[in-house]
Amino acid sequence: MATMESLIGLVNRIQRACTILGDHGGEGGSLWEALPSVAVVGGQSSGKSSVLESIVGRDFLPRGSGIVTRRPLVLQLHKTESGSEYAEFLHAPRRKYSDFAAVRKEIADETDRITGKSKQISNVPIHLSIYSPHGVGSLILVDKAFLHGLTCVREGSPGVAPVRLLQCLSHHGIRAKKLKHVEEKGSVVNLTLVDLPGLTKVAVDGQPESIVRDIEDMVRSYVQKPNCIILAISPANQDIATSDAIKLAREVDPTGERTFGVLTKLDLMDKGTNALDVLEGRSYRLQHPWVGIVNRSQADINKNVDMIDARRKEQEYFAASPDYGHLVHKMGSEYLAKLLSKHLESVIRQRIPSIIALINKTIDELEAELDRLGRPIGADGGAQLYTILEMCRAFDRIFKEHLDGGRPGGDR
Ligand code: GDP
Ligand code: NA
Ligand code: MG
Repeated sequence: MATMESLIGLVNRIQRACTILGDHGGEGGSLWEALPSVAVVGGQSSGKSSVLESIVGRDFLPRGSGIVTRRPLVLQLHKTESGSEYAEFLHAPRRKYSDFAAVRKEIADETDRITGKSKQISNVPIHLSIYSPHGVGSLILVDKAFLHGLTCVREGSPGVAPVRLLQCLSHHGIRAKKLKHVEEKGSVVNLTLVDLPGLTKVAVDGQPESIVRDIEDMVRSYVQKPNCIILAISPANQDIATSDAIKLAREVDPTGERTFGVLTKLDLMDKGTNALDVLEGRSYRLQHPWVGIVNRSQADINKNVDMIDARRKEQEYFAASPDYGHLVHKMGSEYLAKLLSKHLESVIRQRIPSIIALINKTIDELEAELDRLGRPIGADGGAQLYTILEMCRAFDRIFKEHLDGGRPGGDR
């Protein structure tokens, strides 16, 4: 299996290629969108926000009983070359948050700005980015090689200054804005995670009757995308047969290939019962193994128990448990993050051939166009096409190298 490092570099090259090839993506949607995202699904207060936080390894999401998450939160994780860690909202692009408690407060405030201080929901997402030189959490597919890759591409087109490059791309209707953003930040989106409102059964005070359907439709709009990896969150203190998460996941992903079953609140089960039937796949079989989780309780949240302590306590819980002791290495937030990373890696690998095909197609088209214009490429139009052609060739090379490096036993 390829190392995480090489995977990381690869993801970012793919995203880079998607940015550059943007418009050429044509039929079948853009490749940019084809890259995986991860969304949490489940009933209200099942522990969705808690699980997501724990995967990211940062405390920044509002959590609690009742309907806390009332707008989708689209979280993008970025790796920076240096500097300190900070978060930034799309709705307040100039403000850098280095205090994650303030991030949580702003999520709550921004939710209220649209919905009022109510129990209403809105399907207008909040976009949040976290930038970190360390990478964020164990899931991160960061890119140390990104700037190097950029240089590499530029070297394929000597003498083209960045501004010129952007001009030329935009001339061809290629998404220069995205590219510009990438260049300015010196980083690239590597993974999108989505926190969503919980599925409910009845409208409560202050909610319109349609809310049950509205939430379900909103959640479905995210998880039905074939590139969405579903974290189906069910609380262990409720019968799995009543799980809203499993119900919706099964509807949009009947084969279960992109669904991960997560069982939270193992610590809150009735004494004398355990969740082994679920965790060992006897109650409801999924393609991927079930993962049991112990998140922070409300009391822990009130006492500001931090992530590191929470993870340690979670591990201790499994290690000490007479029921789950034998599963200790396959339980907990860290294990879930690892499992997800592995899955992401295989999904991304599957995409490579189609990306190469797209690149080759683009090369062919560009060459035909150049022939039509007539070489040599003194003319401006020709020079621009030539630049793109060179970039495509550079990507083609990079991907092929990666494929070679990624063969079983081909660790590098
Ligand atoms: P969401 O509504 O699905 O996003 O759920 P939250 O993450 O906001 O959690 C809802 C409440 O359940 C919070 O008070 C959490 O502290 C609590 N909670 C979540 N997971 C667990 C768990 O595994 N054990 C315990 N004891 N409490 C949990
Ligand atoms: Na909740
Ligand atoms: Mg929530």
